[in-house]
Amino acid sequence: MSTTLPGSLDWNARYLSGDTPWNQHSTLHALDRVLREWRIGPGRALEMGCGTGANAVHLTRRGYAVTAFDLAPRAIDLARTLAAQAGVRIDFRVADFRQLPDLGLPFPFVYDSGLYHCVRREALDDRLAFLGRTTQPGSLWLTLAGNANETQPGEKGPPRVRAAELCAELEPMFELVELPETHFEAAEQPNGWHPLAWSALLRRR
Ligand SMILES: C[S@@+](CC[C@H](N)C(=O)[O-])C[C@H]1O[C@@H](n2cnc3c(N)ncnc32)[C@H](O)[C@@H]1O
Repeated sequence: MSTTLPGSLDWNARYLSGDTPWNQHSTLHALDRVLREWRIGPGRALEMGCGTGANAVHLTRRGYAVTAFDLAPRAIDLARTLAAQAGVRIDFRVADFRQLPDLGLPFPFVYDSGLYHCVRREALDDRLAFLGRTTQPGSLWLTLAGNANETQPGEKGPPRVRAAELCAELEPMFELVELPETHFEAAEQPNGWHPLAWSALLRRR
């Protein structure tokens, strides 16, 4: 399977070379807050663009039955190893949402940390078709995305999205439930930069 589109990143190559700065950042605090405050689940959950599996393992430990996919085979290899080490069972798939993989029944809760903000300028129709298939009216989707209100200059860090862009792109299919700001926490550098993020919770119309 190709892991790149013209003009987009070769994700598998980045995992193979270790060029994965997003692995330095965690959004588990934001995920936990939403699960707690909105009393979500536990139940079936889907993680999109799961990378090396830390979020999926976290959700599974909290009692969710997790399906998680990523188009990068190397990421899924690492995710399966992490789950085995943690002693948890997760349905990991190598899959590209643009190819509309069949993941079974729609999920009540869908999560991504850093997929939407990476792919929002590509494959919009495919993304909507995929979300239409994997969610149903009432399903909740939490996306953690870079925030254009970030005051740190420079090219580094996650892609940045404006609130108005996020609403325009997602609201046709989803109702915005809440859009607080949060941070990508730097796991290995507690005193380092914590990029500003959006915690966008959406409900399928
Ligand atoms: C910024 S990384 C975030 C990874 C992970 N969520 C994390 O927090 O560590 C974006 C991830 O999306 C995956 N990805 C990009 N395009 C994808 C697609 N079309 N289908 C599935 N996964 C994709 C990449 O391989 C990568 O693992």
